[in-house]
Amino acid sequence: MAEPYPIRPVTDDEITAFRAVDEHAFHGGPPSAARMSVFRRTFEADRSLAAFDPATAAPVGVAGAYTFRMSVPGGLLPTAGVSYVAVLPTYRRRGILRSLMRRQLADIAAAGREPIAVLWASEAPLYWRYGYGRATTTATFRFQRGEGAIAPFAPTDPALRIRIAEPTAAQAELAKVYDTVLSSQPGFFTRNDAWWDRVLYDAEEDRGGLSPQRCVIADDNSGPRGYALYRARDRWDDDRFLPDSVLFVDELVAADPAAGAALWADLLSRDLLTEITARLRPADDPVLHQLLDPRRARPQPHDGVWVRVIDLPAALSQRRYSCPVDAVLEVTDELLPDNAGRWRLRAGGPDGGATCERTTEPADVALDVRELGAAYLGGTRLGGLAAAGLVTQLRPGTLAPLSAAMSWDPSPWCPRIF
Ligand SMILES: CC(C)(COP(=O)(O)OP(=O)(O)OC[C@H]1O[C@@H](n2cnc3c(N)ncnc32)[C@H](O)[C@@H]1OP(=O)(O)O)[C@@H](O)C(=O)NCCC(=O)NCCS
Repeated sequence: MAEPYPIRPVTDDEITAFRAVDEHAFHGGPPSAARMSVFRRTFEADRSLAAFDPATAAPVGVAGAYTFRMSVPGGLLPTAGVSYVAVLPTYRRRGILRSLMRRQLADIAAAGREPIAVLWASEAPLYWRYGYGRATTTATFRFQRGEGAIAPFAPTDPALRIRIAEPTAAQAELAKVYDTVLSSQPGFFTRNDAWWDRVLYDAEEDRGGLSPQRCVIADDNSGPRGYALYRARDRWDDDRFLPDSVLFVDELVAADPAAGAALWADLLSRDLLTEITARLRPADDPVLHQLLDPRRARPQPHDGVWVRVIDLPAALSQRRYSCPVDAVLEVTDELLPDNAGRWRLRAGGPDGGATCERTTEPADVALDVRELGAAYLGGTRLGGLAAAGLVTQLRPGTLAPLSAAMSWDPSPWCPRIF
């Protein structure tokens, strides 16, 4: 039967129409020329799908993907970064998202390059159907004035300096810190210059009443050890003649605990603020252990990155495990049946390689590919999913070692929505 809304990648001259679907769906407007030129540098038309209405020949549903390399436990993995998923409001609930997701998964699997796909979900109920699992938990912190004291027992280093830098001029220093952290932080993806341009994008017409993006760097004589990017809203309570400004931490990345504590101490003690907000923080942010009163961060957790295992043996053999493991998994996968069936996972521990091969031996643990995706980056414990009835232990004593082996320190964190 002919597809009612045929799907194909867009061409360069269809990018504006592709974006228009997203703008209608997300209640936004067209980007400024400056933002568009930055967006174009990371946009990959050849893997950005659109569903077309044959009657109008215009896109009515879209789904894009970026070619990423993401940090996973013990290494970097080619990864499809799914983004720009939207259906025109007047075409919703006709199965267009379903068709786009199925086609996109099939394309990624057929290309054979990326063992996993990842995405941020606008709404949490959307992607479980397509085998994505909630792999990271992210939190928003919101401090009031004077509440963010760093504890006296937190690490300090007298060699550290905090200095203000101009963000774009400091890109190389920021990248040095980011790349240092990336190597051991599951959930980070590699940033080339085009991605740094997105992170540091700061055209005046798009600031929405906030200050320019600011940057502080923590360094010592050997170079940068951490940075924070932030903006502020300058406010004054004129009636009471009281300062009322708000500071928004866009990104704070530190290569060591003392540098992180020093950056937080600087931002949380700034003058004239009534509130400091930090979004997209890891739910177990080290700063929560460094604050004198962590309750005052008022952490508000929510789902972060979702993971879809595309090529099961490649994905499971190309990460490391926290301890040795030898387990047989019985996996269901409705959309990518090559993943379904029984797999024997053997790994030697954090410094050893892993193998994952088909087997006919009896299974130890049964789960859907969705739960495997949730656990893949090491932050969602299989034991927790089993307690929720989503993973089944088939042979006594096999789940706990597998759950421990798949868990990872540090827990995964993706500091940016892509
Ligand atoms: C979310 C959106 C892409 C759905 O597109 P759609 O073409 O209407 O979705 P479909 O008709 O293919 O529905 C597929 C399934 O998702 C379900 N679904 C769709 N929208 C949903 C929503 N907002 N919440 C929960 N479930 C939803 C449908 O009920 C259907 O379930 P079923 O397969 O069990 O029957 C579309 O409504 C949209 O563009 N929303 C605004 C932008 C957005 O949130 N995009 C996602 C970015 S991450």
